[in-house]
Amino acid sequence: MKILVTGGTGTLGRHVVGLLRARGAEVVVLSRHSGLVCDLLAGDVPAIDADVVVHLAGGQKGDDVATRNLLAACTGVRHLVYISVIGADTVPLAWLRTKLACEQAVAVSGIPFTILRAAQFHDLTLTMVRAMAKLPVVPVPGLRLQPVDAADVAARIAELALGAPAGRVADLAGPAEYELKQLVRDYLTSAGKRRPIVPVRLPGKVGKAYRDGHNLTLDGDRGTRTWAQFLAAAQAGDVLAR
Ligand SMILES: NC(=O)c1ccc[n+]([C@@H]2O[C@H](COP(=O)([O-])OP(=O)(O)OC[C@H]3O[C@@H](n4cnc5c(N)ncnc54)[C@H](OP(=O)(O)O)[C@@H]3O)[C@@H](O)[C@H]2O)c1
Repeated sequence: MKILVTGGTGTLGRHVVGLLRARGAEVVVLSRHSGLVCDLLAGDVPAIDADVVVHLAGGQKGDDVATRNLLAACTGVRHLVYISVIGADTVPLAWLRTKLACEQAVAVSGIPFTILRAAQFHDLTLTMVRAMAKLPVVPVPGLRLQPVDAADVAARIAELALGAPAGRVADLAGPAEYELKQLVRDYLTSAGKRRPIVPVRLPGKVGKAYRDGHNLTLDGDRGTRTWAQFLAAAQAGDVLAR
Protein backbone atom coordinates (compact mmCIF):
# COMPACT_ATOMS: atom_id res chain seq x y z
CA MET A 1 0.00 0.00 0.00
CA LYS A 2 1.37 3.41 -0.96
CA ILE A 3 0.70 6.11 1.63
CA LEU A 4 1.45 9.83 1.37
CA VAL A 5 1.89 11.51 4.76
CA THR A 6 1.67 15.30 4.62
CA GLY A 7 3.54 16.82 7.56
CA GLY A 8 5.45 13.56 7.97
CA THR A 9 8.41 15.42 9.49
CA GLY A 10 6.36 17.03 12.27
CA THR A 11 5.82 16.08 15.93
CA LEU A 12 2.96 13.74 15.04
CA GLY A 13 4.04 12.89 11.51
CA ARG A 14 7.44 11.45 12.48
CA HIS A 15 5.76 8.84 14.70
CA VAL A 16 3.13 8.02 12.07
CA VAL A 17 5.71 7.52 9.31
CA GLY A 18 7.76 5.17 11.52
CA LEU A 19 4.72 3.10 12.45
CA LEU A 20 3.45 2.80 8.86
CA ARG A 21 6.88 1.78 7.55
CA ALA A 22 7.15 -0.78 10.34
CA ARG A 23 3.84 -2.24 9.10
CA GLY A 24 5.28 -2.61 5.58
CA ALA A 25 3.63 0.39 3.88
CA GLU A 26 5.44 2.31 1.18
CA VAL A 27 5.46 5.81 2.68
CA VAL A 28 6.15 9.13 0.94
CA VAL A 29 6.43 12.27 3.08
CA LEU A 30 5.22 15.65 1.84
CA SER A 31 6.49 18.82 3.52
CA ARG A 32 8.02 22.17 2.58
CA HIS A 33 11.54 21.04 3.40
CA SER A 34 11.95 17.31 2.78
CA GLY A 35 10.47 14.32 0.96
CA LEU A 36 8.09 15.43 -1.76
CA VAL A 37 8.78 19.15 -1.33
CA CYS A 38 5.61 21.20 -1.69
CA ASP A 39 4.06 24.16 0.08
CA LEU A 40 0.40 23.20 0.33
CA LEU A 41 -0.49 26.80 1.09
CA ALA A 42 1.04 28.05 -2.13
CA GLY A 43 -1.08 25.71 -4.25
CA ASP A 44 0.36 23.97 -7.31
CA VAL A 45 0.25 20.59 -5.56
CA PRO A 46 1.41 17.78 -7.90
CA ALA A 47 -1.11 15.01 -8.66
CA ILE A 48 -0.95 12.66 -5.69
CA ASP A 49 0.04 9.11 -6.60
CA ALA A 50 -0.98 7.16 -3.49
CA ASP A 51 -3.69 4.78 -2.29
CA VAL A 52 -4.03 6.56 1.04
CA VAL A 53 -3.26 10.14 2.09
CA VAL A 54 -2.67 10.90 5.77
CA HIS A 55 -3.02 14.66 6.04
CA LEU A 56 -1.13 15.94 9.10
CA ALA A 57 0.52 19.08 7.69
CA GLY A 58 -0.61 22.11 9.60
CA GLY A 59 0.48 25.48 10.82
CA GLN A 60 -0.70 28.59 12.60
CA LYS A 61 -2.72 29.86 9.65
CA GLY A 62 -4.19 28.77 6.35
CA ASP A 63 -4.82 25.07 6.98
CA ASP A 64 -8.19 25.41 5.22
CA VAL A 65 -6.53 26.74 2.05
CA ALA A 66 -3.76 24.13 2.26
CA THR A 67 -6.30 21.34 2.72
CA ARG A 68 -8.42 22.43 -0.25
CA ASN A 69 -5.26 22.61 -2.41
CA LEU A 70 -4.32 19.09 -1.34
CA LEU A 71 -7.81 17.69 -1.92
CA ALA A 72 -7.85 19.05 -5.46
CA ALA A 73 -4.73 16.98 -6.20
CA CYS A 74 -6.07 13.75 -4.69
CA THR A 75 -7.96 12.34 -7.68
CA GLY A 76 -7.78 8.57 -7.44
CA VAL A 77 -6.95 8.49 -3.73
CA ARG A 78 -9.14 5.87 -2.07
CA HIS A 79 -8.84 7.00 1.57
CA LEU A 80 -7.88 10.30 3.19
CA VAL A 81 -7.19 10.45 6.92
CA TYR A 82 -7.33 13.88 8.56
CA ILE A 83 -6.21 14.98 12.03
CA SER A 84 -8.35 17.64 13.67
CA VAL A 85 -8.71 19.05 17.16
CA ILE A 86 -11.27 18.43 19.90
CA GLY A 87 -13.44 21.53 20.20
CA ALA A 88 -13.14 22.44 16.50
CA ASP A 89 -16.88 23.16 16.45
CA THR A 90 -17.32 24.43 20.01
CA VAL A 91 -14.41 26.73 20.93
CA PRO A 92 -14.58 30.02 18.98
CA LEU A 93 -10.87 30.43 18.26
CA ALA A 94 -9.81 31.36 14.72
CA TRP A 95 -7.48 28.39 14.25
CA LEU A 96 -10.17 25.97 15.47
CA ARG A 97 -12.63 27.45 12.98
CA THR A 98 -9.97 26.75 10.37
CA LYS A 99 -9.69 23.12 11.51
CA LEU A 100 -13.48 22.82 11.25
CA ALA A 101 -13.34 24.24 7.71
CA CYS A 102 -10.74 21.57 6.87
CA GLU A 103 -13.01 18.83 8.23
CA GLN A 104 -15.89 20.16 6.16
CA ALA A 105 -13.77 20.35 3.00
CA VAL A 106 -12.64 16.74 3.53
CA ALA A 107 -16.21 15.58 4.16
CA VAL A 108 -17.57 17.06 0.90
CA SER A 109 -14.54 16.19 -1.25
CA GLY A 110 -15.99 12.90 -2.48
CA ILE A 111 -12.86 11.10 -1.28
CA PRO A 112 -13.64 8.36 1.27
CA PHE A 113 -12.30 9.74 4.54
CA THR A 114 -11.58 9.29 8.22
CA ILE A 115 -11.35 12.23 10.64
CA LEU A 116 -9.83 11.97 14.12
CA ARG A 117 -10.04 14.86 16.56
CA ALA A 118 -7.28 14.81 19.18
CA ALA A 119 -6.58 16.81 22.33
CA GLN A 120 -3.55 19.05 22.69
CA PHE A 121 -0.31 17.05 22.52
CA HIS A 122 2.05 16.89 25.51
CA ASP A 123 4.73 18.56 23.36
CA LEU A 124 2.56 21.62 22.70
CA THR A 125 1.52 21.71 26.35
CA LEU A 126 5.18 21.78 27.35
CA THR A 127 5.91 24.56 24.85
CA MET A 128 2.99 26.53 26.28
CA VAL A 129 3.78 26.12 30.00
CA ARG A 130 7.50 26.70 29.41
CA ALA A 131 6.71 30.01 27.70
CA MET A 132 4.32 30.98 30.53
CA ALA A 133 6.98 30.17 33.15
CA LYS A 134 9.47 32.58 31.61
CA LEU A 135 7.55 35.34 33.40
CA PRO A 136 8.54 36.06 37.03
CA VAL A 137 4.86 35.66 38.02
CA VAL A 138 2.83 33.18 35.98
CA PRO A 139 -0.73 34.24 35.05
CA VAL A 140 -2.79 31.06 34.57
CA PRO A 141 -6.35 30.99 33.20
CA GLY A 142 -8.76 28.67 34.96
CA LEU A 143 -9.22 26.00 32.31
CA ARG A 144 -8.91 22.26 32.00
CA LEU A 145 -6.94 20.22 29.48
CA GLN A 146 -6.58 16.53 28.61
CA PRO A 147 -3.11 16.48 27.04
CA VAL A 148 -2.31 13.41 24.96
CA ASP A 149 0.97 11.94 23.83
CA ALA A 150 1.78 12.38 20.14
CA ALA A 151 2.85 8.71 20.02
CA ASP A 152 -0.59 7.61 21.22
CA VAL A 153 -2.25 9.75 18.55
CA ALA A 154 0.15 8.39 15.95
CA ALA A 155 -0.72 4.80 16.85
CA ARG A 156 -4.40 5.56 16.29
CA ILE A 157 -3.75 7.44 13.05
CA ALA A 158 -1.64 4.57 11.69
CA GLU A 159 -4.36 2.08 12.58
CA LEU A 160 -6.97 4.25 10.84
CA ALA A 161 -4.79 4.71 7.75
CA LEU A 162 -4.40 0.95 7.37
CA GLY A 163 -8.14 0.38 7.84
CA ALA A 164 -11.23 1.28 5.82
CA PRO A 165 -12.60 4.84 5.65
CA ALA A 166 -14.68 5.38 8.79
CA GLY A 167 -15.93 8.99 8.67
CA ARG A 168 -15.51 10.87 11.92
CA VAL A 169 -14.28 8.49 14.62
CA ALA A 170 -14.23 8.82 18.43
CA ASP A 171 -12.10 11.68 19.75
CA LEU A 172 -8.74 10.84 21.35
CA ALA A 173 -7.58 12.59 24.52
CA GLY A 174 -4.96 11.84 27.13
CA PRO A 175 -5.51 9.53 30.10
CA ALA A 176 -6.35 12.33 32.57
CA GLU A 177 -7.88 15.77 32.88
CA TYR A 178 -5.91 18.56 34.58
CA GLU A 179 -6.42 22.14 35.61
CA LEU A 180 -3.91 24.21 33.63
CA LYS A 181 -2.41 25.43 36.93
CA GLN A 182 -1.60 21.78 37.77
CA LEU A 183 0.21 21.34 34.44
CA VAL A 184 2.18 24.53 35.13
CA ARG A 185 3.03 23.39 38.68
CA ASP A 186 4.17 19.96 37.46
CA TYR A 187 6.39 21.64 34.89
CA LEU A 188 7.89 24.03 37.46
CA THR A 189 8.63 21.15 39.82
CA SER A 190 10.24 19.03 37.08
CA ALA A 191 12.30 21.98 35.83
CA GLY A 192 13.39 22.89 39.38
CA LYS A 193 11.86 26.36 39.13
CA ARG A 194 9.88 28.36 41.66
CA ARG A 195 7.32 30.90 40.43
CA PRO A 196 4.19 32.32 41.99
CA ILE A 197 1.04 31.43 40.03
CA VAL A 198 -1.73 34.01 39.68
CA PRO A 199 -5.18 32.88 38.51
CA VAL A 200 -6.63 34.98 35.67
CA ARG A 201 -10.00 34.91 33.98
CA LEU A 202 -10.14 34.38 30.22
CA PRO A 203 -12.59 36.96 28.88
CA GLY A 204 -15.33 36.65 26.29
CA LYS A 205 -16.81 33.71 24.43
CA VAL A 206 -13.51 31.87 24.28
CA GLY A 207 -13.15 32.08 28.07
CA LYS A 208 -16.69 30.79 28.54
CA ALA A 209 -16.13 27.92 26.10
CA TYR A 210 -13.04 26.82 28.04
CA ARG A 211 -14.70 27.29 31.44
CA ASP A 212 -17.61 25.16 30.20
CA GLY A 213 -15.15 22.46 29.10
CA HIS A 214 -15.98 22.61 25.38
CA ASN A 215 -12.35 21.74 24.63
CA LEU A 216 -12.73 18.40 26.45
CA THR A 217 -14.06 15.02 25.45
CA LEU A 218 -16.12 13.10 27.99
CA ASP A 219 -16.67 9.88 26.10
CA GLY A 220 -13.73 9.76 23.68
CA ASP A 221 -10.87 7.25 23.59
CA ARG A 222 -7.85 7.72 25.84
CA GLY A 223 -4.13 7.52 25.23
CA THR A 224 -1.95 5.83 27.81
CA ARG A 225 1.11 8.02 28.37
CA THR A 226 0.57 10.51 31.17
CA TRP A 227 1.80 14.09 31.48
CA ALA A 228 4.01 12.95 34.38
CA GLN A 229 5.62 10.24 32.23
CA PHE A 230 6.13 12.73 29.42
CA LEU A 231 7.72 15.28 31.78
CA ALA A 232 10.01 12.63 33.27
CA ALA A 233 11.24 11.71 29.79
CA ALA A 234 11.67 15.38 28.88
CA GLN A 235 13.61 15.91 32.11
CA ALA A 236 15.86 12.97 31.31
CA GLY A 237 16.39 14.36 27.81
CA ASP A 238 17.22 17.77 29.28
CA VAL A 239 14.62 19.62 27.19
CA LEU A 240 12.55 21.10 30.04
CA ALA A 241 14.29 24.42 30.43
CA ARG A 242 14.84 25.25 26.74
N1 LIG B 1 0.03 19.95 18.37
C1 LIG B 1 -1.15 19.65 18.91
O1 LIG B 1 -1.35 19.75 20.13
C2 LIG B 1 -2.26 19.14 18.02
C3 LIG B 1 -3.45 18.65 18.59
C4 LIG B 1 -4.45 18.16 17.75
C5 LIG B 1 -4.28 18.18 16.37
N2 LIG B 1 -3.13 18.68 15.86
C6 LIG B 1 -2.94 18.69 14.40
O2 LIG B 1 -2.00 17.69 14.09
C7 LIG B 1 -1.27 18.08 12.92
C8 LIG B 1 0.22 17.95 13.19
O3 LIG B 1 0.57 18.75 14.30
P1 LIG B 1 2.08 18.78 14.81
O4 LIG B 1 2.06 19.36 16.18
O5 LIG B 1 2.75 17.47 14.54
O6 LIG B 1 2.68 19.89 13.80
P2 LIG B 1 4.21 20.28 13.56
O7 LIG B 1 5.11 19.56 14.49
O8 LIG B 1 4.24 21.77 13.54
O9 LIG B 1 4.49 19.73 12.10
C9 LIG B 1 3.86 20.31 10.99
C10 LIG B 1 4.24 19.52 9.75
O10 LIG B 1 3.55 20.06 8.63
C11 LIG B 1 4.50 20.47 7.64
N3 LIG B 1 3.94 21.69 7.04
C12 LIG B 1 3.57 22.82 7.68
N4 LIG B 1 3.07 23.72 6.82
C13 LIG B 1 3.12 23.13 5.60
C14 LIG B 1 2.75 23.56 4.29
N5 LIG B 1 2.25 24.78 4.06
N6 LIG B 1 2.94 22.71 3.26
C15 LIG B 1 3.47 21.49 3.45
N7 LIG B 1 3.82 21.02 4.68
C16 LIG B 1 3.66 21.84 5.73
C17 LIG B 1 5.81 20.70 8.41
O11 LIG B 1 6.97 20.52 7.64
P3 LIG B 1 7.70 21.77 6.93
O12 LIG B 1 7.89 22.82 7.99
O13 LIG B 1 8.98 21.21 6.39
O14 LIG B 1 6.78 22.19 5.86
C18 LIG B 1 5.72 19.56 9.43
O15 LIG B 1 6.10 18.34 8.82
C19 LIG B 1 -1.75 19.50 12.58
O16 LIG B 1 -2.74 19.41 11.58
C20 LIG B 1 -2.38 19.99 13.87
O17 LIG B 1 -3.40 20.94 13.66
C21 LIG B 1 -2.11 19.14 16.63
